[in-house]
Amino acid sequence: MIHLIDKLFINNSLTKEELIFLLDNLTESDRDYLISKAYETRLRTYGNTVFLRGLIEITNYCKRDCCYCGIRASNSSAQRYRLTEEEILQACINGFELGYRTFVLQGGEDAYFTDEKLIKIISSIKSKCPEAAVTLSLGEKSESSYKALYDAGADRYLLRHETATKSLYESIHPNMSFENRIECLKDIKKVGLQVGAGFLIGLPNQTNRDIVNDLIFLKELEPHMVGIGPFIPQKNTPLRDEKGGDSHTTITLLAIIRLLLPNVLLPATTALGTIDSSGREKAFKAGANVIMPNLSPFECRKKYALYDGKVFTDTESAEEKKKIETKIKEAGFEPVLSRGDNITWKRI
Ligand code: 5AD
Repeated sequence: MIHLIDKLFINNSLTKEELIFLLDNLTESDRDYLISKAYETRLRTYGNTVFLRGLIEITNYCKRDCCYCGIRASNSSAQRYRLTEEEILQACINGFELGYRTFVLQGGEDAYFTDEKLIKIISSIKSKCPEAAVTLSLGEKSESSYKALYDAGADRYLLRHETATKSLYESIHPNMSFENRIECLKDIKKVGLQVGAGFLIGLPNQTNRDIVNDLIFLKELEPHMVGIGPFIPQKNTPLRDEKGGDSHTTITLLAIIRLLLPNVLLPATTALGTIDSSGREKAFKAGANVIMPNLSPFECRKKYALYDGKVFTDTESAEEKKKIETKIKEAGFEPVLSRGDNITWKRI
């Protein structure tokens, strides 16, 4: 096993069979070694920095019906909201004044936000918050839309693939096409945006083989960012009674991803922090190097409930930022507010 981990550390790759063997047989002491190698790798690529990104949840309207997600179209208990252009811009300006230089606009697939509206929003953010990076996370679009958003100034786009096993994907995404999801990720990359993929851990019936499919898929796509987190059941969804993912597995996978993709930007996600109060600090030690504090207006935070137990802090953003920075420092890392682009990326 140690030999296998060394091979992963040196070559940043393993075969499918080797990855299955690794996941099936990893002992606690092997896992400690794996995590130490992931830590060494992140020090070499991004040092001990943790990048802070301001997250703004712009809409919880969604036309999709993902079986795990609290803002799925069929959830009639969700109280829907969308921020106005002014509210979005104001949230960015507030964040900019606190020092944030990346804004992540995330939302459901909401037809209200046309390309035209998004282009206007991106342009105003870029003019009021010079130098700041804009990341979008708004679901599946056409290649021409991704291109138009890139040309308007968007820098990055997050679209988790959710799972790379077609049958599993289709069982939890009614009326969605696995092939289209993958095409979207390729299109995002092709138009020049930094692309973020990622998957859910602990989905019903998910096996180590499925997870290895995710790892192989990520290695092939070579995204600039990878977001992974435990699936957490949400009470108003068909998967309400399922078990969900755990922190231990999530952290092991973060370490493997850091070794497979040494240059990747890898967040310690809110979902991980939700199921394990020290999960994000453990994640930094296993190779994670991004955290995304919430900058959304307080009134909408509890409505953006993708899963149960998500902490809705009504702590003021400045104070929240200080708390997060303190935790990062206590874990032995350096919080950084600069854009923090992937070191392999340049706008073309
Ligand atoms: N548990 C954990 N993560 C979830 N997401 C959606 N619903 C849940 C849930 N119940 C994740 C999806 C999506 C991201 C924005 O949130 O992976 O891509």
